[in-house]
Amino acid sequence: MSPINRRDFAKTTVGTLVTYSLLNTLFRQELFSAEIKPVAAQWIKDIDELGKDLKGAKLSQLQWKEQCEKLFAQADLKDLMKFVDFGGRISSTPFREKGERPIRFKFPEVEGLPTNLIFGHQIFKLKKGQSVVPHGHNNMATAFLIMKGEFHGKHYDRLEESDSHMIIKPTIDAKFTTGECSTVTQVKDNVHWFKTESDEGYIFNIHILGLNAGSSGRVYVDPKGEKISGGRIRARKIGAAEATNLYG
Ligand SMILES: [Fe+2]
Repeated sequence: MSPINRRDFAKTTVGTLVTYSLLNTLFRQELFSAEIKPVAAQWIKDIDELGKDLKGAKLSQLQWKEQCEKLFAQADLKDLMKFVDFGGRISSTPFREKGERPIRFKFPEVEGLPTNLIFGHQIFKLKKGQSVVPHGHNNMATAFLIMKGEFHGKHYDRLEESDSHMIIKPTIDAKFTTGECSTVTQVKDNVHWFKTESDEGYIFNIHILGLNAGSSGRVYVDPKGEKISGGRIRARKIGAAEATNLYG
């Protein structure tokens, strides 16, 4: 080997080592599970495709809802939990004092899985009695999949509103257990509230923002408002802190 080549060789080796340790760090941060199953990656990819179709207006919000719920019902939870390294950072992240602890993470880079997913995702971690507090959504679609635990889940249609109030009507009031899901769109079940009934509860959440022009986000409400005609409720709009205080 000539001196030049030897130097190049050394450079390459150092480069490889740096890359290797960098990847090691990234893997830990991204919850890279030891065992990567292609089933979960395909499932994530399918959710991504659906989200793209929703944003591209190939699917109506109701069509997205139906297809997303079908897809969520097919989720292989064991596989998904390995994919997100459930036993690692998710388990070790502490509960919040009140309300849900959102845990954000990246999916492992797997062949065939796009790195720029159209949807955001997180896991909510809660303990008994804590809630994903009641809120509606502006300009977005979201879905919940119960990864572990039991919840009392409520949804409401968002019918009308003023600056201070939202007129809502109960649509879903049910027990949700591991493997069950629900969705939120602008046109159906826009307000939701999930209270944990088991010792611990974990919800996988996806959200697709910016269905139309303008900003997206939560609008907190107090669903224990004045009951008006047709089973509707006049719910006061509240801030995040008050919602957490009242229901968290
Ligand atoms: Fe939500």
